[in-house]
Amino acid sequence: MVSQRLQPFGSTIFTEISALSRQHGATDLGQGYPTFEGPESVKLAAIEGLRNGWNQYPPMMGMEELRTAVAHRWRSDTGLIADADREITVTSGATEALAATFIGTFDPGDEVILIEPYYDAYPVGCALSGAVPRYVTLHAPEFRLDADALAEVVSDRTRAILINTPHNPTGRVFDRTELEAVADLCRTHDLIAITDEVYERMVYDVEHVRLATLDGMAERTITISSIGKSFSFTGWKTGWAIASPELAAGIRAAHQFLTFTVPNPMQYGSAAALRIDDSYYTELTTMYRAKRDRLVAGLRGIGLEVYEPQGTYFVLADHRPFGFADDVSFVQHLITEVGVAAIPPSAFYANSDEGSRLVRFAFCKDDEIIDEALEKLSAMR
Ligand SMILES: Cc1ncc(COP(=O)(O)O)c(C=O)c1O
Repeated sequence: MVSQRLQPFGSTIFTEISALSRQHGATDLGQGYPTFEGPESVKLAAIEGLRNGWNQYPPMMGMEELRTAVAHRWRSDTGLIADADREITVTSGATEALAATFIGTFDPGDEVILIEPYYDAYPVGCALSGAVPRYVTLHAPEFRLDADALAEVVSDRTRAILINTPHNPTGRVFDRTELEAVADLCRTHDLIAITDEVYERMVYDVEHVRLATLDGMAERTITISSIGKSFSFTGWKTGWAIASPELAAGIRAAHQFLTFTVPNPMQYGSAAALRIDDSYYTELTTMYRAKRDRLVAGLRGIGLEVYEPQGTYFVLADHRPFGFADDVSFVQHLITEVGVAAIPPSAFYANSDEGSRLVRFAFCKDDEIIDEALEKLSAMR
């Protein structure tokens, strides 16, 4: 039995796709988990946490070690100072930070502007809190945020705009002009900005502008991130929200009853991860840029129209040259006949059918896996 609120999200196409992919032993460029792991020193720190008796309930807002490490990183990345006690909340991944933000901040009937294609937890966050989503669509090939379209959906019930940058699934890293337009709307209409920056370390030769650094935005922005993508430990589910004490109060009110806290060995390990110096991120970006180039070139060679991503570890392509009715039938064909799993992006849209001509591939995979997938796909040429 599924509540009416969650029924629209109950059985997702992704569950079916991953079952089909397993059944056919497909090479997986679908799900966004790395096939490699993060630094050994970070793993050892988590093990040390377990051994050193970090095994009872940690504080509700997160261990001091981790909150302090997040605050230091935030300062070195942005120049902004976040109070580790009052402004940083550790959550079970970015997913819980999002849920706690929605539940703790919005009342039924409040409107939240979402950008589509979106990460599917955002409309679910609306459903959980009773907030009403209003959508603005990013259109291929540029996937730019249209300031006029944003302004058009603002009403007297709008409370917030949610921005995901770098953006899954388009790979856009929104530029300063686009984010200034968001900031402008927030300041003019007294809105909250929520930014989901879990792909903050996968940015290829463009500037990653953080909304919180724009004029007057630090106090009205909730910045969400996590360890999973940046350190190739997606199973750790350790994340955080950085927000003013007023906004953190709502997040914490929900977090206290959603999970109360996060397993502390993972917090201990995550703190060690965030203390690693910047050269780690440079290497990570270099590795991912090479994987992006490998996959983009391969997919173009096969005849897909590829939208080269500026960030994240995903790439969108237009599958229409192959003549399939929609993204789901194209992906089903890929899995069952070609032996490669990908994601049909129509599930990331509420208002537009633009997703049905697209397909999403992930390149957070070993080069051999990318090559194996490209080899199989080349049969479609
Ligand atoms: C845009 C975006 N936000 C949040 C998440 C979830 O992050 P976490 O694993 O830290 O909960 C994902 C995971 O795929 C994502 O793509």
